[in-house]
Amino acid sequence: MTTVAQAQPNIALIKYWGKRDHSQNLPAVSSLSVTLQSLWTRMSVEFRDNDGPDTLLVNDAQAPAMLARVSHCLDLVAGPVRPRADVISHSNFPIGAGLASSASAFAALVIAAEGECGGSRNLLDLARIAGASSGSAARSLYGGFVVLTARQDEIDVQTVCESSEWPLEVVVAITEEGPKPVGSGEAMIRGEKTSPFYSSWIERQDDDLTAARDAVLARDFAKLGAIAEHNCLKMHSVMWSSRPPIVYWNSATLSSMETIRALQADGLPVFFTIDAGPQVKAVCLPEAADAVTVALRQTRGVLNTMRSSLGPGARKMEVV
Ligand code: PMV
Repeated sequence: MTTVAQAQPNIALIKYWGKRDHSQNLPAVSSLSVTLQSLWTRMSVEFRDNDGPDTLLVNDAQAPAMLARVSHCLDLVAGPVRPRADVISHSNFPIGAGLASSASAFAALVIAAEGECGGSRNLLDLARIAGASSGSAARSLYGGFVVLTARQDEIDVQTVCESSEWPLEVVVAITEEGPKPVGSGEAMIRGEKTSPFYSSWIERQDDDLTAARDAVLARDFAKLGAIAEHNCLKMHSVMWSSRPPIVYWNSATLSSMETIRALQADGLPVFFTIDAGPQVKAVCLPEAADAVTVALRQTRGVLNTMRSSLGPGARKMEVV
């Protein structure tokens, strides 16, 4: 039997950056994200009878660097004394390039693995397992606007507003397609150890989260945009002030931010956010999405754009 699951990446508006506990991969801060609709990862898991190592194909190629993390995640779902697995992953967007592909991958993996081993864990337990592999993956188990609360020794995750209740759009400006130079896990550790801004980043996060959650609940786009941009730039300030510094941006990243500033000056409801990569995500009200897409496509250095509405959490798919 094979079990297939699909998950979409999520984009954090209030960012997770920093770990409270490295061995359990517990985040140091709470975060708020939106789950996307039209970018996806589909993951199939099949437990085999015969011995041998787990196997992993990502977009039809062997992925040795990812295999250890996938095997560890399968151990967490099915226990260390489990049958070996053949895992196949397909994504319809660039992976490892700051587009949250690890979030959709590990969210889909836990759902597929749980189905394959006949388990009956609830969504929060599965989110906690996904989060142990990739902190942001816990949020992709849920749809719409998702708050992840970082507690002392565990996380809580919940949808605070369904996508249908506030149907925002996200336009992603792709400015580079290669993999990022430093993974987010390593970059977070460097920030924690060396950035002089790290402690104030942690201290102020709950205030940012409260402001953003209130803005979502009030459907206040301007307030959400202001706090999301501020929070994003603070996270990048921690990265830039790490030693050695981590700068994920390129010149097209900055040009895309200028484009969004110009659209805002023209009165369009749009704001930007940027993760551990050079892509710029423009979040907008649906009526602005066409104009935002055209403007970003015409921006110097932008290779491509991808557009998505907000969508549901990870789920099992029917195998035909
Ligand atoms: O889940 P990770 O380890 O890939 O880290 C995600 C970090 C950011 O994307 C930059 C922020 C976030 O909250 O998603």
